[in-house]
Amino acid sequence: MIPPRPAGRQGKSSVWRFVRDFRHDILTAQSDRLYRAWMAEFRGGVVHSFTCNHPDLVQLILTGQPQNFPKSPRMAAGLEPLLGNSSFISNDETWLRQRRIINLAFERGRVRQSFPAMWDAAQAAIARLELQADGSERDIEPETAHLAADVIFRSLFSIPIEDRIAGQVFQSFRAHQAAQPMVNLGALLGLPRWARVHRPGVRRSARRIRSLIRQLVDERAARIEAGVAPPDLATKLMTTPDPENGCPFSRGEMVDEVATFFLAGHETGASALAWALYLLSESPEWQDRVAREARARLAPEFSCVRHLETSRAVFREALRLYPPVAMTVRESRHEGIMRGRRVPRGAQMVISPWHLHRHERLWDNPHGFDPARWDSENGKECQKTAYIPFSAGQRVCPGAGFAMVEGPLLLSAIVGAFRLDPPATPPQPIMRLTLRGKDGIRLRLRRRS
Ligand code: HEM
Repeated sequence: MIPPRPAGRQGKSSVWRFVRDFRHDILTAQSDRLYRAWMAEFRGGVVHSFTCNHPDLVQLILTGQPQNFPKSPRMAAGLEPLLGNSSFISNDETWLRQRRIINLAFERGRVRQSFPAMWDAAQAAIARLELQADGSERDIEPETAHLAADVIFRSLFSIPIEDRIAGQVFQSFRAHQAAQPMVNLGALLGLPRWARVHRPGVRRSARRIRSLIRQLVDERAARIEAGVAPPDLATKLMTTPDPENGCPFSRGEMVDEVATFFLAGHETGASALAWALYLLSESPEWQDRVAREARARLAPEFSCVRHLETSRAVFREALRLYPPVAMTVRESRHEGIMRGRRVPRGAQMVISPWHLHRHERLWDNPHGFDPARWDSENGKECQKTAYIPFSAGQRVCPGAGFAMVEGPLLLSAIVGAFRLDPPATPPQPIMRLTLRGKDGIRLRLRRRS
């Protein structure tokens, strides 16, 4: 089965057309040549970028010399109103300190501790989906977003999405998403910070979300002080001191990080799960295999996850074909030569999991849905060198282990409970904050007998 992908741009593009397309949808703005190229240079006005598709270049930027390729402030600017200066967008000393604390909060045992949160959220989602399982076509994205947000709130603050504040954060976040373009135009064009204008709704919705999060953080601080806080991720993040200077996150820093965990932790999981469900709706054979595995192995115990091999292979394949973070941009701190080309200081270095995961010179059947590939020689090799749904190196996603338990578990629970049939028209991938369907991701659900 060859699932949908955007019709890439053909031929050359002017800078204005590129900027316009880029703001609308990063993916359709890209040339189809990127599925075969190792490196592509784009130069127009103030935008000078290099898309790096060769595994050695990706390795150099993310893992070999990350200090020479910090996160690009041009791309981060759009997220600033919501995330402040959190670990997702900061660099250098600030980021190092944030990440030391986050790594400790995610140390061994954290995912196991979050398992009941994932299980309970899955059961609540099945109850909600039962009301919709009449075989008619529906957009599954709002449901997967609801479910992933539920998992995050239960894991972070031990509260379900039905909690008043959690529910308001979720609703306000949907409004924020709708108001937010993919990138800030002023920042993309390299304008100074004071000249970057955000759409009016963006700042307003970001302020609202942050004030709700502030309430959760203040409430949790009070419970920590009273010695009655649950041992969840929020408590761990707020009480873990930086091993270098002994200082934990301040309340302000904590608001930035909770906003980040909410954004990074639920948007991505929701996107991956929706695409995985769609892929299975188009592939009855794999869907039956996942359902059979769920019947035999799914259980409310952490140890069951190890046995959900088929669900994991499908989820991994969904992350390959539809990586939620389809592109990320670094900035070159120094002038250098790459593949014989001069890369100036300040160049935008685009890493594109979307293209790397479908590179025609690396993968067998690059655009096809084939969860069995992970057992093949080519799949095993590419998994090591050309598969980065969670990025790589020091800035690798700290939630990767969490996500690889959550994703297969939720997939197994939903497919175990419902039969999925495909929509009349396949979804069209489009890059928003994460990879989404242009008009949602539609499919049909029926309760399994
Ligand atoms: C399928 C699910 C997920 C995917 C595909 C994903 C992917 C990613 C990627 C690609 C990055 C790096 C972005 C970049 O370099 O521009 C990232 C960073 C991050 N992710 Fe995830 N993520 C997922 C789930 C989670 C979860 C569940 C959490 C937290 C509970 C989380 C927290 C973070 C944080 C805090 C960062 C910033 C790390 C840093 O820059 O040091 N993610 N994620």
